Amino acid sequence: MYVIVDTIQFLGKCLYYFSEAFIFKIIPLKRKDVAGEIVLITGGGSGLGRELAIHFATLGSIVVLWDINEEGNMETCRLVKEKGDVKVFAYTCDCSKRQEVYKVAAQVREEVGDVTILINNAGIVTGKPFLDTPDDMIEKSFAVNVISHFWTCKAFLPAMIEANHGHLVCISSVAGIIGINGLTDYSATKFAAFGFAESLFFELNLIKKTNIKTTIICPYLIKTGMFDGCVSKYPFLLPILEQKYVAQKIIDAILEEKVYCTLPKVADFMLYLKHLMAPKMTLAMVKYLGGETFMASFKGRMKPNTLQPKTEEKHQ
Ligand SMILES: NC(=O)c1ccc[n+]([C@@H]2O[C@H](COP(=O)([O-])OP(=O)(O)OC[C@H]3O[C@@H](n4cnc5c(N)ncnc54)[C@H](O)[C@@H]3O)[C@@H](O)[C@H]2O)c1
Repeated sequence: MYVIVDTIQFLGKCLYYFSEAFIFKIIPLKRKDVAGEIVLITGGGSGLGRELAIHFATLGSIVVLWDINEEGNMETCRLVKEKGDVKVFAYTCDCSKRQEVYKVAAQVREEVGDVTILINNAGIVTGKPFLDTPDDMIEKSFAVNVISHFWTCKAFLPAMIEANHGHLVCISSVAGIIGINGLTDYSATKFAAFGFAESLFFELNLIKKTNIKTTIICPYLIKTGMFDGCVSKYPFLLPILEQKYVAQKIIDAILEEKVYCTLPKVADFMLYLKHLMAPKMTLAMVKYLGGETFMASFKGRMKPNTLQPKTEEKHQ
């Protein structure tokens, strides 16, 4: 008897939430106000992190920048300050180091306050075929791209839970929803980051902390330099995205409290097809979209086998 009642309740909820989602596709969603919120962005020293910092500052948020690259971080700080009467704080922090994350997090709590929007954005990419990928780069990619999310969330989530107020943002990737050749370590970290954020979303909802929101972002290639050299076979289908466009879409997703955001939207289609199609058809789709040659001319930001930015890009 219980099974029948439970199943009917479940189906009723499905119908209700499906209709709700459909209605919200037509009616514009209410956007939340982030003025006065303390927004911490890891990897704020360049690319997407920098762009997001500027956007949040113009929305009246208090911006906290973390980056391993002190110069880049200070440059973002300067650019944010150009926006006028804004509050911005920059900290040098290697997110891959647990003790460093906890130490700098304590400093932020003391000097700025409790972080209410946490954007896990810092990332690195190796960009080599699996057997050419150095072991230390595999470990480093995991440490920066996903394990750091555990440390930052451990540091800032307790205050969010206490207040039942906050927002966790995970910058994953299209490579976090579909595997990509030449990106085995990167792709694995992005799947893991997605899985971590989604699991935490369920966990927070089950303990009724429904005012702590989760947003998982999965962008395709962005013109930030991280994937320099990569080409899109059919840009009309999968264009290489502008940094400003992606940042605006991420801000929209956060303000509308969306859980998932894939950019461009057409990439969602790849995910549906992947689950619906035979594996050989998925392979054909990947080849059609240029998966075979996607990484062939990859240069990226890093010198081979090191974690240092190329010297000419250090002061971007
Ligand atoms: N560029 C793309 O095509 C693309 C596509 C999908 C997802 N993403 C993701 O977007 C995020 C931002 O990437 P981006 O394109 O702006 O690249 P980026 O290289 O411009 O920015 C990454 C930032 O992370 C910082 N960082 C690296 N290691 C760090 C560490 N240990 N501790 C603290 N900071 C560290 C870097 O110094 C840099 O400022 C990344 O997570 C990336 O994986 C990028």
